[in-house]
Amino acid sequence: MDNPFNFFQRTVFPSYLGVDIGTTSIKVAEVRNGKDRPELVNYGILESSGYLARENQALQTSSLKIFESEIVDLLKTVVREMGTPTKDVVASLPLFSAFISVLDFPRMEPREIEHAIVYQAKQYVPLPLSEVALDWLKVAEFEDEKGFFHQKILLISVPQEQIKKYQAMFAAAGLTLRALEIESLSLTRIFGGDPTSTMVIDIGSRSTSVVFLEKGSLVWATQSDFGGASLTQALASSLNINPLRAEELKKERGVLGTGPSYELSTIMLPFLDVILNEVRKAQFSYGEQFPGLRKTERVVLAGGGANLLGLEQYVERALGLPTVKISPFSRFQYPAAMEPLVGELNAVMPISLGLGLKEFLS
Ligand SMILES: Nc1ncnc2c1ncn2[C@@H]1O[C@H](COP(=O)(O)OP(=O)(O)OP(=O)(O)O)[C@@H](O)[C@H]1O
Ligand SMILES: [Mg+2]
Repeated sequence: MDNPFNFFQRTVFPSYLGVDIGTTSIKVAEVRNGKDRPELVNYGILESSGYLARENQALQTSSLKIFESEIVDLLKTVVREMGTPTKDVVASLPLFSAFISVLDFPRMEPREIEHAIVYQAKQYVPLPLSEVALDWLKVAEFEDEKGFFHQKILLISVPQEQIKKYQAMFAAAGLTLRALEIESLSLTRIFGGDPTSTMVIDIGSRSTSVVFLEKGSLVWATQSDFGGASLTQALASSLNINPLRAEELKKERGVLGTGPSYELSTIMLPFLDVILNEVRKAQFSYGEQFPGLRKTERVVLAGGGANLLGLEQYVERALGLPTVKISPFSRFQYPAAMEPLVGELNAVMPISLGLGLKEFLS
């Protein structure tokens, strides 16, 4: 018999699907308000492994070209597999689909700043303003060594065309897009006001994002086009094996640098160093733009790439900062049956989990 209270329950305890569309996979977290903390009710991850076999088959590329029909199919599949009746989606946009600039203002009233931002936006946004959605947030204020006061504003603009594409994709998958935000904001929500000055390195498949947080809030984020897939490709070509086998070997052995993984480490480390050099560039640029902020105190690793065995130790030594893996699940209630998976999902799901929190925390 149908539960007569079904409708009632759903309106009192609504849940949302946080959807993170990466370059090679889709992650979905269904979140609702739990008793004493948010509750992860259900989740789904779907990888498009086609990208391993064929160089060009990624779900998204930096050139903004999205293979919409494939994403729609994957969305339908993942939601069907999850068996969730929830249709309300909060989704993230990858950093490369937004333009982000840092604006600098002296001591001014918020209303004056708003005026100035609108006036200056034209200079920073490479498209006509009528074609973008603009958002801004104050991310820092400090005095420089000469005693000048600075207020830093992060100006985020997303092409309207991109937003329409997302709306159309979710609609085609039978879902309702309630909110869209850049992925770094979703990631930041997981930190819930943690005061440590943090640099998050999110190593995805085709890209790595570097996100700087101060007092648990986003300050700045940037992205580079190198990710975990380059390690797999390196193994495949050096050992002359197929990419699927190379992917397995990478996950099994990591970069521990001892015993049977020594040889594999020597193949992968130069590619990992390329990623870390991009991180150093981001650190340098952050220091230049935000000279008055505290130095980064810790590194937090995220993204599937963060599950590489031995990565924490390697990064800690390379960057000279305490390094840990991200642990978003600690903020959630979740089904006990998930416990054995949490170690690995922690790195993979922070963006989808942060998205799932959006309607409850903001
Ligand atoms: N145990 C593991 N060891 C090493 N690498 C891993 C492991 N698990 C996943 N990866 C790697 O993580 C990457 C996928 O990470 P993730 O799911 O965060 O990417 P994505 O979000 O789809 O991509 P992007 O963020 O670039 O758009 C792949 O390169 C995969 O090989
Ligand atoms: Mg990702």
